[in-house]
Amino acid sequence: MAHAVEQPAATPPPRVGKQSDPCIMTIFGAAGDLTARMLIPALHNLARADLLSKEFAVLGVARSQMTDEAFRKRIYDDVKQYCSDCIDPATWDTFSKRFYYFAGDFSDEKLYPQIKDRLTQIDREHSTHQNVFYYLATAPSFFGPIVAKLAATGLMEQSNDHWRRVIIEKPFGHDLESAKTLNQQLLKVADEKQIYRIDHYLGKETVQNIMAFRFANGIFEPVWNRRYIDHVQISVSETVGVEGRGSYFDTAGSLRDMVPNHIMQLISLTAMEPPISFDANAVRDEQAKILHAIQPISDEDVLSRSVRGQYGDGTESGARVTAYRTEPDVAPDSRTETFVAMKLLIDNWRWADVPFYLRTGKRMTARSTQIMIQFRRAPFVLFRDTPVDHLMPNQLVLHIQPEEGISLQFAAKVPGPVMRLGTVDMNFEYQEYFGKQPSTGYERLLHDCMIGDQTLFQRADMVEAGWSIVNPVLDIWKALPPRNFPNYASGTWGPKDADELLERDGRRWRNFEK
Ligand SMILES: NC(=O)c1ccc[n+]([C@@H]2O[C@H](COP(=O)([O-])OP(=O)(O)OC[C@H]3O[C@@H](n4cnc5c(N)ncnc54)[C@H](OP(=O)(O)O)[C@@H]3O)[C@@H](O)[C@H]2O)c1
Repeated sequence: MAHAVEQPAATPPPRVGKQSDPCIMTIFGAAGDLTARMLIPALHNLARADLLSKEFAVLGVARSQMTDEAFRKRIYDDVKQYCSDCIDPATWDTFSKRFYYFAGDFSDEKLYPQIKDRLTQIDREHSTHQNVFYYLATAPSFFGPIVAKLAATGLMEQSNDHWRRVIIEKPFGHDLESAKTLNQQLLKVADEKQIYRIDHYLGKETVQNIMAFRFANGIFEPVWNRRYIDHVQISVSETVGVEGRGSYFDTAGSLRDMVPNHIMQLISLTAMEPPISFDANAVRDEQAKILHAIQPISDEDVLSRSVRGQYGDGTESGARVTAYRTEPDVAPDSRTETFVAMKLLIDNWRWADVPFYLRTGKRMTARSTQIMIQFRRAPFVLFRDTPVDHLMPNQLVLHIQPEEGISLQFAAKVPGPVMRLGTVDMNFEYQEYFGKQPSTGYERLLHDCMIGDQTLFQRADMVEAGWSIVNPVLDIWKALPPRNFPNYASGTWGPKDADELLERDGRRWRNFEK
């Protein structure tokens, strides 16, 4: 029997993956929350895993006045606050010396030539080969104008020797028309290959594992179709309310916030055909085909195939909490939905007539993101003369968060002299098998941008396809304001109408205790 050769304790673990290209990351909005909570911890995790080039630097840009030193101190304090076990004292010093800061207003034309000069200096100091990516950790209204000003200053120009890329954060528009406008603004001055539309959901291992699970195992793909699958449920539930984001959320709502982006990504990865390779466009072509195959919801069908809700008073983790309309920066008569459920159908040979039910909401019973695939029941015939009165269908659940794993539910005989059935679970938990890695979900995505891999980023056509699906719902909901808000209590699984959406089809949501 072969034994693994043990490494001496002092040897660092070998790097898994390619080191990033030399480059400068320019963060617009470097004094903000996203930078502090996600971007800096993710960069530090990459440095600790030896995935960051030694020729790497960061230039932070925001309004606050700060020296480079003050910026370094600030990011140290932030990382300590948000991710204390992320700080590795052995690497922090060299890591933080690569950080620089420049104060200015994004709307100021004069800022961009100054950024250009600063990038030239940093490039000289760190030999970053003039590769630069711009991370727009800013309000979406800045995306188009910042990229236009970068281009006008020559800061988006690439050559055979160096690249220029830009990462933008969702929301990519607030409806189909504005998404198209944003794409046009970006594509006027940059190539699609330079644009990385980030959806941090796709940084999660389990989301990436959907492809590995489906395509690296021979046993699932043959049953992954309308012949064996009864329906699919995609459920993204949060226990928290709007958490201080009232002014943004009240203009967006759950449908805009979650469905065209996160949930469409989950649907397309679950339903797509096997791509011919892991090449970015091969994968994204298959995802886009699914988004285009989703049956458009007609105006007449909107009310029977979608449900909206808003939370009222209730309890969260045993404590009393108050209604959405009482949250700071939310209108006291707000009609914004904090819950949405929909029934979608995919018009292709694999999925015809298999409903995909999705729901997402705030202040629900449990925090969980799951994809549940329910298989068709086995024929009952054999059990007719036994005490068994019905058969439970098999359920395969892909757990995305907070637990990451996969479980399969099936029937087993309850021990004893008579034939009785119980439902049992086969469980795989990521953490149990692979241990816990410090991760924000941004590591993989930042690294992919630095090596030029766009697989996990949304392409312009995918963004527009996602909005095309929800746009009729947005229009009808706007024309017919809800009359019964709030219509679900905090701490529950959402409004009764959402249960009825499935009950009409003889199905039920997979609810569970916290
Ligand atoms: N926070 C998250 O976890 C998270 C998650 C997903 C997506 N996002 C998205 O990421 C973006 C940024 O979010 P955030 O939470 O980091 O926002 P934030 O905390 O409000 O930070 C905004 C940053 O932009 C800077 N800024 C604003 N206006 C400016 C201007 N005119 N000129 C120069 N700098 C300006 C601010 O600088 P000063 O402070 O110096 O004024 C600050 O550094 C948003 O689009 C958000 O929707 C955030």
